[in-house]
Amino acid sequence: MKIPFSPPYIDNDVIAEVTDSLKSGWITTGPKVKALEQATEDLLNCQACNAVNSWTSGAILALKWLGLTDEDEVIVPAYTYCATAMAVIEAGGKPVMVDIAEDMTIDTNKVRNAITTHTKAIIPVDLGGFPCNYPELKKIITSQEVVKLFTPTTDNQRKLGRIMILSDSAHSIGAKINNKSIANLSDITVLSFHAVKNITSAEGGMICLNLPAPFNNKELQHWFKIMSLNGQTKDAFAKTQLASWRYDVIDTGLKINMPDVNAAIALAQIRKYDYLLKERKRVFNRYSSCLQHFKWAVLPFQTKKTNVENAYHLYPLRITDISANQRDMIIQKLAEVDIATNVHYIPLPNLTVFKNLGYKISDYPIANKTFEHEITLPLYPQLTDEQIDFLLENLIKVHDCVKDIK
Ligand SMILES: Cc1ncc(COP(=O)(O)O)c(C=O)c1O
Repeated sequence: MKIPFSPPYIDNDVIAEVTDSLKSGWITTGPKVKALEQATEDLLNCQACNAVNSWTSGAILALKWLGLTDEDEVIVPAYTYCATAMAVIEAGGKPVMVDIAEDMTIDTNKVRNAITTHTKAIIPVDLGGFPCNYPELKKIITSQEVVKLFTPTTDNQRKLGRIMILSDSAHSIGAKINNKSIANLSDITVLSFHAVKNITSAEGGMICLNLPAPFNNKELQHWFKIMSLNGQTKDAFAKTQLASWRYDVIDTGLKINMPDVNAAIALAQIRKYDYLLKERKRVFNRYSSCLQHFKWAVLPFQTKKTNVENAYHLYPLRITDISANQRDMIIQKLAEVDIATNVHYIPLPNLTVFKNLGYKISDYPIANKTFEHEITLPLYPQLTDEQIDFLLENLIKVHDCVKDIK
């Protein structure tokens, strides 16, 4: 029985939507992108969404909008995909890494200590689809002493008057806290529609705007649209309408628009969001109801808080009684029976690029400990109960077999 790690969800509706785009005579940014933006706004209860070609490019554009210089700092967790910190560097700022808490999201107690007069933004990461403690982060950035520390250097920073929260919601489309969508909990929320994500356009992302007054999110959406098209005031679709050729370029933008043919994939999927979530939850709960009986298994996202709704993107299991080497052996032995697993993540300070910038893993003990014991089980709607049980049976067997090997 073959179990891949994360195949995309491609059904006849996805194929029909893509075929419709291919046959329409228009394949780059146009009506499908508009429909996907609208569907995302509806799902996330957000006023203004702007599709782009990745989470990474969307986050870079959002940080460029805020304006960063090389003195400016942006707080990120040490335990995430490299893009979270890379976007900060690309936008001209300096990532300041903070350790995670036991729930694998940024430790809000450590965030406060990392804030300086140079801090301009925080990028919390909803790891595996589990939302960070946004209410607590909001409390920190709006507290009098932190607002006093804030030293704006651009018009948008001055207008905001405090540290911006830009959420890395690459994993968490649909997640909620207190029934509030993640897009309502930060200033800017960026989603990923990369091939392995809950909703995918093969490659893609979405910038969801929720900036407070005096910002006008609808007006800003227009600015983001223009800036994702090289600063050009009309997209190619608008320009090809009869006698509509004239345009202007108003600023130095990026070229990061999402093509319609990609948007079509995600559009067909997002219409089935409730069904896809229900199936993800089924897989997640089947893993948990079996693994809860094993002392060595730390189940993901065990929280006493009932007000948090996970998006069920990943199942990051932690196995307490093994070393990192033994974890790797488990991955290898499962691969030998055609079961694909993964690790989320190698902590950023362990990656060469960040080591060379001076970050040290010894400063992030929880991230390091989490990494050494972590193994991510496959989680997607197409997984059958039979496949899940086969995987669990093998995982338990392989664990028992490697745990005494040094
Ligand atoms: C936590 C996290 N942030 C950001 C990204 C980057 O997303 P994209 O590939 O759409 O740029 C990923 C992608 O895997 C991710 O897992």
